[in-house]
Amino acid sequence: MQLTYLGHSCFMLQTAGKTLIFDPFIKSNPLAASISFDALTADYILVSHGHEDHTADLIALAQQTGAKVIANWEIHAWLNKHGVTNTHPMNIGGKWMFDFGTVNMVFAAHSSSMPDGTYGGTAAGFVIESDGKAIYYAGDSALTNDMKIIGAKYMLDAALLPIGDNFTMDYQDACEAALWVNCNHVIAMHFDTFGFIKVNHEQAQAYFTANSKILTLPTIGGTITI
Ligand code: NI
Ligand code: MN
Repeated sequence: MQLTYLGHSCFMLQTAGKTLIFDPFIKSNPLAASISFDALTADYILVSHGHEDHTADLIALAQQTGAKVIANWEIHAWLNKHGVTNTHPMNIGGKWMFDFGTVNMVFAAHSSSMPDGTYGGTAAGFVIESDGKAIYYAGDSALTNDMKIIGAKYMLDAALLPIGDNFTMDYQDACEAALWVNCNHVIAMHFDTFGFIKVNHEQAQAYFTANSKILTLPTIGGTITI
């Protein structure tokens, strides 16, 4: 698995010959100015919830790539209404086998509405099993007891967790979440993009090290092998 950070909570995952993009928010993220949006290709787009910092480029990217969008029922219905019909609806607790592997849609303790105010269903995260690996993408979740279910069911190779605080977990809660999902390697997201979620990198790294866990603070455009 090759994981490329596109800024905020947007990642590109290349696995089993397919390309997945999570929560597209690139063109209106000044920190992601180095990412060439027009050059992006994808087979699948996964959407955790409806908020603008996760869906701003969703329709444009779906149209540009023709990718199948995997999202909850409400986001699927909203996309269909806006002309994006290559969608796969899911809901919390469900899983589906795609051609790259299995997606399990899991609970995220957060809210969800579309940029136009339409109800966005329950906020979600995903566990992806592909190419002999398993990763957890937490979306915008708070620390929640439901994460223990993931720890009991999966042997994760990496957990992609928000660390920016204010709207989501902070890095201390993310470190606890790593314990609950039983994964020592956290890849951070949802940090530094705006003033509310600026993170002191050194303090975050030191906290994880002191708790015998690994925190990767990805650089935009950088690729991590899992
Ligand atoms: Ni959100
Ligand atoms: Mn967000």
